[in-house]
Amino acid sequence: MDTAAITPTLRWTGDSIEIIDQTRLPAELVLLDVRDVASAVDAIERLAIRGAPALGAFGALALVVGLDEAQPGSLDAARELLERLRHEIGDTRPTAVNLRWAVDRTIDAALAAPELTNASTNVDSGSNSGSAGSLDELRRRLLDEALAIGAEDAKACAEIGRLGREVLAEATVIATHCNAGRLATAGIGTALAAFYAKAAAGEPVRVLAAESRPLLQGARLTAWELADAGIDVSVVPDGAMASLIAGGEVDAVIVGADRIAANGDTANKVGTLAHALAAADAGIGFYVAAPTTTVDTAVPSGDRIVIEQRSPDEVHHAGGQRLTPEDAKAVNPAFDVTPARLITAIITDAGVLRPPYGESIAQALAGAEPAGSGAGRC
Ligand code: MRU
Repeated sequence: MDTAAITPTLRWTGDSIEIIDQTRLPAELVLLDVRDVASAVDAIERLAIRGAPALGAFGALALVVGLDEAQPGSLDAARELLERLRHEIGDTRPTAVNLRWAVDRTIDAALAAPELTNASTNVDSGSNSGSAGSLDELRRRLLDEALAIGAEDAKACAEIGRLGREVLAEATVIATHCNAGRLATAGIGTALAAFYAKAAAGEPVRVLAAESRPLLQGARLTAWELADAGIDVSVVPDGAMASLIAGGEVDAVIVGADRIAANGDTANKVGTLAHALAAADAGIGFYVAAPTTTVDTAVPSGDRIVIEQRSPDEVHHAGGQRLTPEDAKAVNPAFDVTPARLITAIITDAGVLRPPYGESIAQALAGAEPAGSGAGRC
């Protein structure tokens, strides 16, 4: 992949966030300039920016946008603003853990600075000549932390790609769901990073991208970014993947994650569970690729993961056309949970985690070499 020629999924311009509007792909590559909180929340809600790690990197930068927009007159007012934004931005999508995690990390790191923790100053009253300086310092700290989150994610993606390639060394035809690529992260992706690494090493790889109804992240986004990188990609209707797997036409499945519980149960785009069940039945590897920032040990198991319910309109319509009868209702859960028992391995930036996940996840997060972290075969 010629990374120099690639338009970044998100980029800090100095006073705004430039993102690719993913609702417009693959028809056109349109960039959005986000410079207020309402636009940031709107971009998240309508999936102009999406994918758990990209949401984290974006949400953190949106705090700086929010500070610049509000121009608080004192540190107390800035603290109040950030507490409001913690929820207004951080809770916009409930399943992807990285969004609220990154918002919390950025606010907490910035406010923890010793020179800011004890200061209570008011610019307008002129009671403290250091007020404006403290606000500048707060902005600088927010921006540094937000940029660090993006940089760390890019690094994690590269490591996941390296390990994913090792794990999938024997696999050529590999299925994936939704989009867990460069459009979903601040780097080269998670699940798709393995494909980029295989292609870069000159290994054969043929990707089967499940459409991922209703918003078609697989058909629109995965197919777009892989084709753009010259990787062989075929779009497969969601309902066709199980029979392809059962028929022996797929070597392995790899997907991303929106939240991984402490026991390894994994929430990802709705439809993922069906591929996992088919893979288990056929005896092929089913892999989750995610940075450790997507692990949420506060959630013990998948039944405690909050599943985002989206508008029925997304099911009723496609391409501006109503597909369903006017009297029909629709349900639209955006994610499902794949139980840990169906997951062959979780490929993270801290190693390749194997069952029992309760132990391997805890070890990985503690910084220890996880059990079974040597890359295995599919
Ligand atoms: O609703 P989306 O498009 O944000 O859902 C995204 C996914 O389900 C991805 O697989 C997940 O966030 C991992 S992205 C590296």
